[in-house]
Amino acid sequence: MAKKIEEYYVPWVKGIPMYISDHIELAWRKPELHRMMSNENPNAPSQKVLEAMIKYAKMANRYPDQGLVVRTKIAEINKLDGPQNVMIGNGSSEVFDNVFRMFISPGDEVIQHTPCFAIYQLRGTLLGAKMVNVPMIYKDKKMLYDPDAILKAVTDKTKIIAVANPNNPTGNFMDAKHFITIAETGIPFVIDEAYVEYAGLGMSQVGLIKKYNNVIIMRTLSKAYGLAGMRFGYALAAKEVIDQVSGSLLPWNVGTIPMWAALAAFEDTEGLAERVRFNNTEVDFITESLSDIPGFVVFPSKSNYILFDCGATGKTGKEVLAFALTKGLILRGESKKYGSDGWFRVTIGTKEENRLFVDTIHEFFRMKK
Ligand SMILES: Cc1ncc(COP(=O)(O)O)c(C=O)c1O
Repeated sequence: MAKKIEEYYVPWVKGIPMYISDHIELAWRKPELHRMMSNENPNAPSQKVLEAMIKYAKMANRYPDQGLVVRTKIAEINKLDGPQNVMIGNGSSEVFDNVFRMFISPGDEVIQHTPCFAIYQLRGTLLGAKMVNVPMIYKDKKMLYDPDAILKAVTDKTKIIAVANPNNPTGNFMDAKHFITIAETGIPFVIDEAYVEYAGLGMSQVGLIKKYNNVIIMRTLSKAYGLAGMRFGYALAAKEVIDQVSGSLLPWNVGTIPMWAALAAFEDTEGLAERVRFNNTEVDFITESLSDIPGFVVFPSKSNYILFDCGATGKTGKEVLAFALTKGLILRGESKKYGSDGWFRVTIGTKEENRLFVDTIHEFFRMKK
């Protein structure tokens, strides 16, 4: 009697569904809605990037190489020795996949600092890891990193510690000294710097990779560079680590067009600076505009999104999202936590969208001036 197909799946992948972002599906189905939910950049790619895309679209019949030129450029920007310190991928999500595969066997543990981005859990679970959630501390209307709790969560099964800096969805940075303490454990320490360009590379922990070969820095072009749909991300680490982790790369994993468009984006420093200036001005605008609603907590952000907790107003995040949708805005919901179901998040949109968002929130809380 032939065995059933279910008996052939590796046990820990059974029942794992396809990852679907309902809000992104909705946004593509209804393009008239305002996409203020996925930490995308509201600005289209710069002329220089578009020109590179078109130039290399004409060579899309050719296989790419393993990215020697763009990796050299990334190394230069980050003051590293060379392309041997850089691995590139189809978005940083793919780079997480490559890195996680190299360290995790079923039964191993991955520590993540919650609330956080979903990819650590998605990859960890697929590889059979047990996720160990270490919650941030919610105190005095702030979400604080808890490096001591991260260290306490370490066991001899811990194979990866993942910390985003700044964190998504909270928007803040952890103090530099705590990165050193965690790096000292020797455990593979993945620092996700998806949004670091908004505060500047001066806030990056990339310098640590010269001393600690267990530190791996993750970056993406999806945020400040504004190329989420292009899919380009990278890891920075010591040469021997990049050598080993690159063993998990699929041949030609980054296509000819995104690879050369990424190079153009790195060279277009003014394009990046404009996007960062725009974003940071708008973060300030929204933060200040919503600071006067009683019971409404606005978390200071160094990224392209802002987290809110309206639990103390008596309203829920779900109610805010439903009302915003009637105004054409898609915002991002957050699960109930710390005894509040008032959490939600907005992504910085265009100038017009940000004003519509502020008006919508004021109207909802009956504070419209
Ligand atoms: C903290 C964090 N890391 C990584 C990513 C993934 O980015 P990519 O588009 O490069 O896969 C995101 C996307 O929202 C994110 O918020």
